[in-house]
Amino acid sequence: MPSTAPRLTGDGRSHAKIILFGEHAVVYGAPAVALPMTRLAATVHVRPEASGIHIDSALYSGEAERAPDHLLPVVTAIRAAIRRIAPLTPGLWVRIGSSIPHERGLGSSAAVAGAIARAVASLANRDLDAQDCHRIIQEAERVAHGAPSGLDAYAVVADGPILFRQGQISTLTFAEPLTFVIADSGIPGSTSEAVGDVRRRRNAEPERIDGIMLDLAAGAERAVTAMQTGDARAVGSEMDRAHQGLVDLGVSTPGLNALVDAARAAGALGAKLTGGGLGGCVIALAESEPHAERLETALRHAGAPRTWTLTAGEA
Ligand code: MEV
Repeated sequence: MPSTAPRLTGDGRSHAKIILFGEHAVVYGAPAVALPMTRLAATVHVRPEASGIHIDSALYSGEAERAPDHLLPVVTAIRAAIRRIAPLTPGLWVRIGSSIPHERGLGSSAAVAGAIARAVASLANRDLDAQDCHRIIQEAERVAHGAPSGLDAYAVVADGPILFRQGQISTLTFAEPLTFVIADSGIPGSTSEAVGDVRRRRNAEPERIDGIMLDLAAGAERAVTAMQTGDARAVGSEMDRAHQGLVDLGVSTPGLNALVDAARAAGALGAKLTGGGLGGCVIALAESEPHAERLETALRHAGAPRTWTLTAGEA
């Protein structure tokens, strides 16, 4: 019989995510498509302590009770993981590392929460149910940015492209793999601020904003069909159209628009901002992997301090 005794230490890992279609509109019920970006990850190592929660990270080291406000989502994730997975844990020492840049729309806060949940489950020697993992990440995400759609909480632990519709996820199969370049604008963007701005605009101009949301939702559905039928050009034009929708929602910036323009000038099939916006990253669709290399060069020349290539939908 396999042992169920708690271990002496536990480890967890969770990765970055890229939203390909549906950011912001997903908060209002539109479908969304997200991709895991496994090369950027949050890792967490835990061990039991006699009492209290001690955090060791690049942003803060010390007792959870005295952690600064920006660590509140992390503290929430730790407390939620203990409560839901290992309620008898007297105390915990938690070391957090992450290669995911913060406030770049890459899901860094959700990934840290996911890695915490997995580390606590590993310490308790328990399999972590997908819904429990999702609930723990969502508790932390609510503290990080109010009313998260739940998309990020699924995407940071997903194994492949996901389609998120009405709060449920399904695996999305691409007819042909697609190669994307992600470029960091170097400027942080706050998701809670962006989501709040969109909410205020919607309250002020409901018809105009709901029209944009409907357009973003219809574009995401067309893009899903294009991905399922291997029509990369159609995926690219839906990305261009989605970027315009996000510009109209007011969440793009001159820096993000400049990177989108640079990607298109370098032959991208389509380009858009990804995630909450107001800073963060853009994603561009390349014709091929060699073309992705040229896109990375063009985006760096246009001022992106960091770029990555990601091929999604490989069998
Ligand atoms: C943030 O990564 C994605 C948003 O759509 C917010 C959310 O889905 O909760 C902007």
